[in-house]
Amino acid sequence: MIVWSLGRLATWMLHLIIDTSCSESLWTTLLFVVVAWLASYLWRWWRTSRNLPPGPYGYPIVGYLMRIKREFHEELTALSRKFGSVFSVRLGSELIVVLSDHKIIREAFRREEFACRPDNDFMKLLDGYGIINTEGKMWKEQRRFLHERLRHFGMKHMGDGREKMENRIMIEVYQMITELADKKSAPVELGSYLSSAVSNVICSLLMSVRFRHDDPKFIRFTNLIDDGFKLFTVTAAAGFIPILKLLPAFNYAFNKIRQNFGEISNFYQEIVDDHKRSFDANNIRDIIDGYILEIQNAKEEGRSEQLFNGKNGDRQMQQIIGDMFSAGTETVKTTLQWATVFALREPHMQARVQEELDRVVTRFRMPMLDDLPNLPYTEAFMLEVMRRATAVPLGTTHSTSRSVSGFCLKLRAKFEF
Ligand code: HEM
Repeated sequence: MIVWSLGRLATWMLHLIIDTSCSESLWTTLLFVVVAWLASYLWRWWRTSRNLPPGPYGYPIVGYLMRIKREFHEELTALSRKFGSVFSVRLGSELIVVLSDHKIIREAFRREEFACRPDNDFMKLLDGYGIINTEGKMWKEQRRFLHERLRHFGMKHMGDGREKMENRIMIEVYQMITELADKKSAPVELGSYLSSAVSNVICSLLMSVRFRHDDPKFIRFTNLIDDGFKLFTVTAAAGFIPILKLLPAFNYAFNKIRQNFGEISNFYQEIVDDHKRSFDANNIRDIIDGYILEIQNAKEEGRSEQLFNGKNGDRQMQQIIGDMFSAGTETVKTTLQWATVFALREPHMQARVQEELDRVVTRFRMPMLDDLPNLPYTEAFMLEVMRRATAVPLGTTHSTSRSVSGFCLKLRAKFEF
């Protein structure tokens, strides 16, 4: 359709050019349009650039994209070494300000205007549900609510639920090492064992469900999420160069994301429905029960309209399952895989960790959080693993509700010079 319209337009213009009687006025009009477009482009470029933190130059339309030669986070790290911890870079149609210092990030994200998300197709699909991709008031409330719930179920180092969480983790660790021991010295693909152990901890916390690592439903569910991450990487380029959306490969990827999203949402809804059927307000089993109770309370107190900003409760629960599952599983699994790689590559470190664990914990019981102060080498090893092989080097996407270039320049001046 677009190609056809462009063809018609080109033919029409050709006719006009050939038609000498109007060629002069046509050229004048064309020249005027080009000059006006160029002037407005330069004006917008100047207006946005004059207060920006410094950054690398790019080319028209694609910006810095064509100059990226390595992994994106490595490229940004190299740029931050050159331009400082607050710098700006244009990627296609997007202007990005990169904050790469934890003090600066903390200071910036305290402010209300930083609690927004970019306006792209993925965000449109999620439609402001969940927590990872929500913004403003909804994000703040969900964050507070989830923190409370997680603390209750023992996610933090303190609180009444700590033992519950430790028990959940220990059950899964015990299960995993028993299954691995059964394999004796046969080669194993550690990823799937770690994946089911980690996701079972999250699933029990979220929805009181456990999966075996070879359960077809679990395999389908994790494959859909993995697929989603891969497709998301394919479509990410279109966020910077919107015209790419016209290509069939992008269209296919967007449609597949939508289709997978539908299937996975149905799966989450089954869990929500199960919970509703067996719900008991005096026995809150997990986070989904916590949400159902909150929805009921809001109804009774006549504040349903305010809860989730008036959005649909079922969809919010679906997306919370999705967010917690995808945020909590892949990150921890990847970190543990890296820990194994480093332990194999540095046998002297592995021996020191083992020696410390044997001495402090012994081999007759599992390590507990209370042991941590007496395990400085083991803790240092894990922290070094996370530093060397950061599972989420770029964090999630953020945007601002208004122009904050002045504030960014102030931050730069405060922390760097
Ligand atoms: C090694 C493990 C983990 C790493 C490296 C990690 C890293 C991160 C990072 C970098 C962010 C983005 C922060 C931002 O840009 O705003 C994030 C957000 C988040 N993570 Fe994790 N995470 C890990 C484990 C977990 C676990 C186990 C859970 C849940 C059970 C979880 C749940 C979340 C949630 C809900 C968010 C969104 C928070 C918000 O928007 O306020 N993460 N994580």
